Amino acid sequence: MPTLTSPLDMRFRPVRLIRSLFMIVLILFVFLNLHVLMNFEPHNSDAYDRTLLYKLRHSNNLKAHVQTDRSQLQDSDGPENSSKVEVLILPNQYNQTFVSRHNIPEHNLTQIKLEIDRRNAEQYVHNLQKYGLSLGSESVVIVVQVHDRANYLKILLDSLRKVKGIEKTLLIFSHDVFSEQLNSIVETIDFCPVMQIFFPVSAQLHPKEFPGEHPNDCPRNFIIGSGEVQIHCQTKHHWFWKLFHVFDQLTVMKNYTGLVLLLEEDYYVAPDVITILQMMNHLKKKDCKDCRMLTAGNYDKTQSYSINSGKVELGHWISSRHNMGMAFNRDLWKDIKKCTSEFCNFDDYNWDWTLQHLSMKCIPDKVKVMKMKATRVFHIGECGVHHKGKNCQPDNKKKQIETQLQSNKQHLFPNVLSVGGQSKFKLRDPKPNGGWGDKRDRELCLSFAKGQV
Ligand SMILES: *[C@@H]1O[C@H](CO)[C@@H](O)[C@H](O)[C@H]1NC(C)=O
Ligand SMILES: *[C@@H]1O[C@H](CO)[C@@H](O)[C@H](O)[C@H]1NC(C)=O
Ligand SMILES: *[C@@H]1O[C@H](CO)[C@@H](O)[C@H](O)[C@H]1NC(C)=O
Ligand SMILES: *[C@@H]1O[C@H](CO)[C@@H](O)[C@H](O)[C@H]1NC(C)=O
Repeated sequence: MPTLTSPLDMRFRPVRLIRSLFMIVLILFVFLNLHVLMNFEPHNSDAYDRTLLYKLRHSNNLKAHVQTDRSQLQDSDGPENSSKVEVLILPNQYNQTFVSRHNIPEHNLTQIKLEIDRRNAEQYVHNLQKYGLSLGSESVVIVVQVHDRANYLKILLDSLRKVKGIEKTLLIFSHDVFSEQLNSIVETIDFCPVMQIFFPVSAQLHPKEFPGEHPNDCPRNFIIGSGEVQIHCQTKHHWFWKLFHVFDQLTVMKNYTGLVLLLEEDYYVAPDVITILQMMNHLKKKDCKDCRMLTAGNYDKTQSYSINSGKVELGHWISSRHNMGMAFNRDLWKDIKKCTSEFCNFDDYNWDWTLQHLSMKCIPDKVKVMKMKATRVFHIGECGVHHKGKNCQPDNKKKQIETQLQSNKQHLFPNVLSVGGQSKFKLRDPKPNGGWGDKRDRELCLSFAKGQV
């Protein structure tokens, strides 16, 4: 009798069995679901509906109200509208040929002007044969404003080359100086589709007359760092012109509703910058529908990727804090464009200060921003301005940033993005700094909107 199992055990055994069976079935179910999710390749709109259904059914499992998941980006390019490709050029179907002219004398302005006009009309896209182009509402097109600092531009390209997903974007360089050296650098890019556009009313083309140097109040030639000349009024003209050109003039961009990321020649970007912007765009749809500006960079002196890598902050767009690595889409552009007159008549030569004024006085609902708490964009050129030379070579700064990114490698590409606070900074209407009093500046600026330039 004592060797027999007790009646107590007998009673529990079937329960255990059922429990184990239940666990096995549950585990199988979970694996099956995971399998379906991971191997999901969207081929048609039916497939999209299926993921959408899955997400709706399991919405309790997603902390949808505060997070966006990186896996969502990879499984399907966003379930809602992603089946819509807005721009499509397949590899090997682009039959335009690039006429490279490398012998244009830098002193012959007539010839430079002809070449600029030719290139702007042609809108040639390099590397399309290799990569093709497929853009949609989930894409990020990158526009770099370039003046004349070749050494900085090379550093930016070194960083862009390492960005995940760069081959799927269109990289546009907007130049206000036509130079063989800069063109050659851009033409060496082999990692993504590339286009160059040229600001046609540049100071280079008008060295002795408007909009080049003239004695009025615009601080046109302002020496910074080691003898580098920054032409400030031109920067605001160029900034505004390139937006008109990119959104409204380029054929390839006509159907595009996705993000446009604005960079400058002296920036450096983290390898997850595109992924981060796509995740911000998702998070925006859930958590901050009126955040029309996404800012991937910030100027904070200390950056904690371990704590803040997947955190964003919401607030009003403030020019001095949120002007680095800005991305927005056509919706905000349309509102900025409606304020052309305010933009061109505000007496300030800084485009970002002017934009803050528009946000306060002209753009409906003001411009709200979603900003990364751990920066994905770095300003290398800033070094030259504030630390005149000493230990502040661009290459040293580049190494310093690369070391920082390398030691935080495990924190880049966060799995989820979530809101980690509200900005405490109050939006106010900035006092104009002047430098934009010349009537011709205002007229030139207004002419961009009329598509005359
Ligand atoms: C999808 O696109 C349509 C127009 O094509 C638009 O009205 C709608 O708001 C979009 N939905 C999302 C979730 O973006
Ligand atoms: C834009 O959309 C139109 C209409 O769908 C299409 O014919 C055209 O090819 C598209 N443009 C590009 C660049 O894909
Ligand atoms: C390029 O392709 C288009 C459309 O297929 C055709 O009309 C055009 O003639 C082609 N151009 C060249 C230079 O082959
Ligand atoms: C500049 O180029 C134009 C057009 O090619 C030419 O007609 C002109 O003679 C050139 N001027 C000078 C000064 O070389």
